[in-house]
Amino acid sequence: MAGNWTPDGWKAHEARHLPEYGDAAKLAEVEQTLASFPPLVFAGEARELKKDLAEVAEGRGFLLQGGDCAESFAEFHPNNIRDTFRVLLQMAVILTFASKQPVVKLGRMAGQFAKPRSAPTETVNGVEMPSYFGDIINGIEADAESRRNDPARMLQAFGQSAATLNLLRAFATGGYANLSQVHQWTMDHINRSPWGEKFAQMADRIGEALEFMAACGVDPSSVPQLQGTSFYTSHEALLLPYEQALTRRDSLTGEWYDCSAHMLWIGDRTRFEGSAHVEFLRGVGNPIGMKCGPSLEPDALLKMLDTLNPKREAGRMTLISRFGHEKVEAGLPKLVRAVKAEGHPVVWSCDPMHGNVIKTESGLKTRPFDRILSEVRGFFAVHRAEGTHAGGIHIEMTGQDVTECTGGAIAITDERLGDRYHTHCDPRLNGAQSIELAFEMADLLNLEANERHKQAA
Ligand code: TRP
Ligand code: MN
Repeated sequence: MAGNWTPDGWKAHEARHLPEYGDAAKLAEVEQTLASFPPLVFAGEARELKKDLAEVAEGRGFLLQGGDCAESFAEFHPNNIRDTFRVLLQMAVILTFASKQPVVKLGRMAGQFAKPRSAPTETVNGVEMPSYFGDIINGIEADAESRRNDPARMLQAFGQSAATLNLLRAFATGGYANLSQVHQWTMDHINRSPWGEKFAQMADRIGEALEFMAACGVDPSSVPQLQGTSFYTSHEALLLPYEQALTRRDSLTGEWYDCSAHMLWIGDRTRFEGSAHVEFLRGVGNPIGMKCGPSLEPDALLKMLDTLNPKREAGRMTLISRFGHEKVEAGLPKLVRAVKAEGHPVVWSCDPMHGNVIKTESGLKTRPFDRILSEVRGFFAVHRAEGTHAGGIHIEMTGQDVTECTGGAIAITDERLGDRYHTHCDPRLNGAQSIELAFEMADLLNLEANERHKQAA
C-alpha cells in the first residue's frame, strides 16, 4: 500500500485530542493484549464495503451511516442494539424504495467510543476536572477518580464492540432483516407518529411486490438477497493506540487493515496537514471517511485526498460535510467543484448534526429537527446545482424514544428535553424523528430518480 508507512509511524506526527496516560507500563500491556486478540472484522469485508461505496461514488446508490454519538458501557444492552438496527433497516427500506437504488448500511456502532472535546478540562459544580473523552478513555461521572484516563477501558470497549458486532451480524443474516419481516421492524413509539402510518403503507406495497414475485418463483428461500442484508460498522479513528493495536496485515493481499471496524473516519479537528491521524489512516486499506467543515479550504481538501487516496480508488474516500444549516449552501459548492474538477472519485455524504447544535436555556445541548432537515435540503440542492451525486447521510440517532433533539412530527419542546435525555455526548434523533428524516430524504431521492429516468428515456 502506502510507501514508508508503519502502523506506529503516526507517533512521529502531531497528535491532537489523544489522551495522556499516567501509567505507561499499563498502556503498553493493554496494547499488547489487544494486539493478541482476534480482529473484529476481516479485510475482505472492508474491501466489499469499498466496492459498494465505489458504486455510490459513481452515482449508483446511497450511503446510510448512523448510530450513537458515543456508545457507552452503561447503555450496553441487546435491546438498544436491536432497536437502533431496526430503525436503520426501516430507513434503508424507505430510501431504497424511493431511490430505486441500493442503500449501503453502515452503523456508527460497535466501536464508536472516543470523543474529541473542545477543552481538556471542565468545571462541574465549581470543581475543575478533566473533560469526559468517551467510555474507552475515562468515565462520565463528575469526579476526579472517574475522569482519570484508564487504558484498561480499551479492553472493555473491545469486548463490547465484539459482542455488538456479533449481534449485528446475526440480525443482518439470521432472518431478522429478511424483507418479508418489514412490518415487524416498526416500534410502538414510531406508530404514534404520522410517519408510522406512511411506513405501514409502504411496507404493504413491498409485501405485495414480494408476493407477486413469489408467485413468479422468486422468493427469499431462492434469492439470498431478500433474506438478509450486508451491515457494516464504522467509528471515528481517534484513539490511535487502540486502532494501531487492531491493525493487521491481511494474509490474502499483504496490505494493512485497521480491523477494529470496516470503515474509519477522521474528524474535523484531526484532519490538518501533518496530523498523526491522517498519517495513520493513509496506510490502512479500509474505506475512509473525512469530516469537512466550514474551515476546510479546497486546496487543503485536495491535498488530503492526494495523501489519503493517491491512487484515486473509488470507494476509498467518503467526504462527510458538516456545515450547519445556514452555511451549507454557501460553503459546500467550492469544495464540490474543486473535487469534481480534480477528478477525485468520492462519496459525498451529509452530516446534518454537528453544525446544528444549540444550547437551550436549561443548559442542555439540542439540535432542532427543522435545522437538520434544512441542512439536508441544502446539501441536496448544492449537488443538484453542481451536477454531482448527493450520496449519503451521516446521523446521530437511536432506536430509543429519547427526547434529545427538538421538533419533529411528535414535537419535542425545549421544556420536554429533560424527560428522556440519555445521550453520553451529543443529542440524537429518536426513532420517530429518524423515520421522518428518511421520508423527507426519500422525496429528494425520488426527484433524482425521476431525473435519471427522464435522461435515460
Ligand atoms: N439485500 C437487499 C439490501 O440489503 C434487500 C434487503 C433485504 C433489504 N433486507 C433488507 C433492504 C432490509 C433494506 C432493509 O438492499
Ligand atoms: Mn457527535
